[in-house]
Amino acid sequence: MSAHSHPTGHEKIETSNFLMIVLILAAVAFGGLVEIVPLFFQRSTTQPVEGLKPYTPLQLAGRDIYLREGCYNCHSQMVRPFRAETLRYGPYSVAGEFVYDHPFQWGSKRTGPDLHRVGGRYSDEWHQLHLNNPRDVVPESNMPAYPWLAKNALDPAELAPKMKALRLVGVPYSDDEINKAADDVKGRTELEALVAYLQVLGTARK
Ligand code: HEC
Repeated sequence: MSAHSHPTGHEKIETSNFLMIVLILAAVAFGGLVEIVPLFFQRSTTQPVEGLKPYTPLQLAGRDIYLREGCYNCHSQMVRPFRAETLRYGPYSVAGEFVYDHPFQWGSKRTGPDLHRVGGRYSDEWHQLHLNNPRDVVPESNMPAYPWLAKNALDPAELAPKMKALRLVGVPYSDDEINKAADDVKGRTELEALVAYLQVLGTARK
C-alpha cells in the first residue's frame, strides 16, 4: 500500500496512537476480568473450609485490636505453598479459611513471622508475657511492647453492632449469638481478647 493511500482495517489501528491505546486497554481489561470474575463464584474461594467457625465476640474484639495496633505492618497471615514455608509454619493457607474475614489480613510485610498458623502454638500465658514485653520471652526480639492491652477493658456495647454489620456481608451470626455478645466480653481486657484471636488463627484446618 502506498504511503499516500488512506489506511484501512488493521493499519488504521496501528497508525493511530489513540485507537491503539484504547484497544490495548480493552484487551487487558477483558483478560483481567476473565481471570478475576470466576473467583467470585468458585466454591474453593467462597465457601468456608470444613470446621471454620465465625469469630466469637471475644475473638472478634481481639481481631479489631490487632487492626488498631497495626500488627499487620510486621506480620502476614498467609502461609504460601512453598516447602520452606510449610516446614516453618505448617499447612499452606487456602482461600476458604478466610471467608469470614472482612477484611482479610493476608498482608505481605514480614518483619516478624507469619501468624496464620500461630493458633495453639504457644500457651495463653506465653502470649500475654510476649505482648506485654516481647523481650521477656524472646530476648533478641525487636517487636514493640503493648503494655496497655492488659490495662484496657473491652467495651461490651461495641460487639453487637459489629456482628450485625458482619452478618450483612455474609457471616452467619444468629440473633441469639448477637444478643449474648456483650456477656462474652464483659469484664475482659484487650489483652485477653487479642490472645483469644491469636489462638484461633489457622486452627480450622488441622
Ligand atoms: C515492628 C514490627 C512488629 C510489630 C508492629 C508487631 N510484631 Fe509481632 N513480632 C515481630 C518480630 C520481629 C517477631 C519475632 C520475635 C519475637 O518472637 O518477638 C514477632 C513475633 C510475634 C509473635 C510470635 C510468632 C511466632 O510464631 O513465634 C506473635 C504471636 C506476634 N509477634 C504477635 C504480634 C501482635 C499481636 C502484634 C500487634 C499487637 C505484633 N506482633 C506487632 C515484629 C512485630
